[in-house]
Amino acid sequence: MRNCCKILCSLIVLALLLVHGVTAENPYRYITWKITYGDIYPLGVKQQGILINGQFPGPQIDAVTNDNLIINVYNYLKEPFLISWNGIQQRRNSWQDGVYGTNCPILPGNNFTYVLQVKDQIGSYFYFPSFLFHKAAGGFGGIRIWSRPKIPVPFSPPAGDFTVLVGDWFKANHYVLRRTLESGHSLPSPDGLLINGRGWNGYTFTVDPGRTYRFRISNVGLTASINFRIQGHKMKLVEVEGSHTLQSTYDALDIHLGQSYSVLVTADQPAQDYYIVSSSRFTSPVLTTTSILHYSNSYRGVSGPVPGGPTTQIDWSLNQARSIRWNLTASGPRPNPQGSYHYGKINTSHTIILANSAPVINGKQRYAVNSVSYVPPDTPLKLADYFNIPGVFYLNSIPDNPTYSGAYLQTSVMAANFRDFVEIVFQNWEDTVQSWHIDGYSFFVVGMDGGQWTASSRARYNLRDAVARSSVQVYPKSWTAVYMALDNVGMWNIRSENWARQYLGQQLYLRVYSPANSWRDEAPIPKNALLCGRARGRHTRPLRH
Ligand SMILES: *[C@@H]1O[C@H](CO)[C@@H](O)[C@H](O)[C@H]1NC(C)=O
Ligand SMILES: *[C@@H]1O[C@H](CO)[C@@H](O)[C@H](O)[C@H]1NC(C)=O
Ligand SMILES: *[C@@H]1O[C@H](CO)[C@@H](O)[C@H](O)[C@H]1NC(C)=O
Repeated sequence: MRNCCKILCSLIVLALLLVHGVTAENPYRYITWKITYGDIYPLGVKQQGILINGQFPGPQIDAVTNDNLIINVYNYLKEPFLISWNGIQQRRNSWQDGVYGTNCPILPGNNFTYVLQVKDQIGSYFYFPSFLFHKAAGGFGGIRIWSRPKIPVPFSPPAGDFTVLVGDWFKANHYVLRRTLESGHSLPSPDGLLINGRGWNGYTFTVDPGRTYRFRISNVGLTASINFRIQGHKMKLVEVEGSHTLQSTYDALDIHLGQSYSVLVTADQPAQDYYIVSSSRFTSPVLTTTSILHYSNSYRGVSGPVPGGPTTQIDWSLNQARSIRWNLTASGPRPNPQGSYHYGKINTSHTIILANSAPVINGKQRYAVNSVSYVPPDTPLKLADYFNIPGVFYLNSIPDNPTYSGAYLQTSVMAANFRDFVEIVFQNWEDTVQSWHIDGYSFFVVGMDGGQWTASSRARYNLRDAVARSSVQVYPKSWTAVYMALDNVGMWNIRSENWARQYLGQQLYLRVYSPANSWRDEAPIPKNALLCGRARGRHTRPLRH
């Protein structure tokens, strides 16, 4: 009897290890965040900001590949709140994604503990508040995922590692912006740009002469693409959203909404201070702001004109985008070279074409994908799916190809099968740059060009060294095509990173489904899951195994 029990117990332990083992042996990092309102003055006027532990921007998250992050978020705002993780894949675990399609918001005075694992990832990302247009008030911060000690990094360790959060900014409070959008208007032009929460020369990066530094730049803004450059210095691109790139040198880099880039900069110029410049792209007027690159041995402040950005428009940017490629021999999060994954040799099982538009529906400005303008349901989709609550959403409530017919409001969810390998084409007929993000995944940017995408566009795809990333731009009257392995079960948000467009419907959810219904493919519902809407009062005890 006892032996039998022992065997049984060992089998149970073994089974638990198989399910949770990967998580169990990796370090845990415990983080507590208090979300409050606070006065901030980024453009010289007092505003109500959203602070994390008293800070704007919020604290940096540092992790090593495969670390577990236990982030307990206390909401002291007067409104429900959610944090999401731009580019963090949360494998098998859309329960932690922190968007309203997967999570109930944290009510005022309450807390929620996110349990994330940065599985098989390296690189530069950011977090942001995803609900109620809070992003316009702050609440964002940088995420750095460092390589494990024995994994080679394709450049020498830099002397310093700076997070640079750039983006456009409005002086208006987020309630006011939200009311503008809800009453059916588009947003006005932003009032300025910020670098790490500060306006003109408000932030200083100090470097020692002769040494090389890593700058991790993310566009955390609401509406504008930006161009980034450093007076008198070259930037060597080394990483884009977790991919090590060919190390090309740039004078200026276009960074679209939601994107993150790492560059190396050597302090090889005469000792003085230099402008670090960010300016808006494809806008009129062009907004500009600067911060300071201060040489530690410099006694001279910044001087000379602020260097201008590229004056040619789309072609310059498109060519630059095409030059950003995967370094096939460099390691990523694992020791083997990135190029050992031959994405270009895999047959796609399915092509999804997503066309954005800006329709007026019921007299109000909306934004849509394939004629569907997303409306949030009363219950998070992930919970409705899990508890089988009928009527919250319908699968394939959005076509997988544009119909170009009249636009309508719908809670749009597209069905997809686990382990399919899909081609997604973003087709943009509007005259503005689009920026798309897919949660839970990174994808290969195989092509982008002007005009209409057709099957023959595939002849010019980069099937060898396209970069893998999670946010990509689509130029005006152009298309961008990506390949994506559906290796992550869950309910995943596909959205415009233009925050007004996202808020007014340019988003959808992709439900990646595995019939196996197994914990190997998808983590069980967390014990602390918040339940709201029609899921309120349900039991979160796991129903399957
Ligand atoms: C709120 O914080 C407490 C104390 O750390 C924790 O035990 C609890 O799980 C948190 N609540 C949620 C819903 O995560
Ligand atoms: C690619 O990565 C390797 C490290 O594996 C590095 O030596 C090489 O310089 C990189 N190539 C380019 C073009 O950046
Ligand atoms: C991909 O498709 C081609 C043509 O249909 C076929 O010859 C090839 O075997 C397929 N490759 C794989 C890996 O399935």
